[in-house]
Amino acid sequence: MKVALIVAMDIERGIGKDNDLMWHLPEDMKFFKETTLGQVVVMGRKNYDSIPTKYRPLPKRENVILTRNKNYNAEKGCVAFNSIKECMDAYKAETERTVFIIGGGEIYKIALDEGYVDEMYITHVNDNYRPDTFFPDFDLAQWNVKTIKTYEKDEENEASFAVLKYTRK
Ligand SMILES: NC(=O)c1ccc[n+]([C@@H]2O[C@H](COP(=O)([O-])OP(=O)(O)OC[C@H]3O[C@@H](n4cnc5c(N)ncnc54)[C@H](OP(=O)(O)O)[C@@H]3O)[C@@H](O)[C@H]2O)c1
Repeated sequence: MKVALIVAMDIERGIGKDNDLMWHLPEDMKFFKETTLGQVVVMGRKNYDSIPTKYRPLPKRENVILTRNKNYNAEKGCVAFNSIKECMDAYKAETERTVFIIGGGEIYKIALDEGYVDEMYITHVNDNYRPDTFFPDFDLAQWNVKTIKTYEKDEENEASFAVLKYTRK
């Protein structure tokens, strides 16, 4: 099983506000879609709720929702687990697909704290958005970092950003 994490954050490690994203960056959305298509995507219940109903479950991906609610009624096309351990155990033998941790803040934190993450795709958005939800502070010394691509601000994308791939040393 390979576990990756994908996130977009601002210069303060901010990832969201009022249970929503904070920017309009179609090029980054495209990168998220291309990278996760065909894979398993693991998300917190709040993140799932924040996806507009017409876009969920995220198509052509196995949607996994983490919730502590034992009676959670997962929507058609979704699987739910009550802990990250149960979830990771369920995909332990997975060889074809990557398990992508797609947030939000609580789920990124437990996935990193519990040492499940092998690599991270981080979009660094070059602006500050007054977030209320953050990516956890992590120890850069534990990761090799490579820049995958950079984008300039344009009519469609409101800020410049860079996508970096972090691989655990
Ligand atoms: N910028 C990005 O790349 C990005 C990506 C994703 C999300 N976001 C943003 O992040 C924000 C949402 O993040 P969040 O931190 O508020 O919530 P979250 O991580 O999406 O979800 C939190 C929920 O996950 C469940 N949960 C947490 N820990 C658990 C555990 N140990 N075991 C089982 N279930 C657990 C609980 O669900 P129950 O309450 O049902 O028990 C909890 O309320 C939004 O603003 C969203 O737009 C940003």
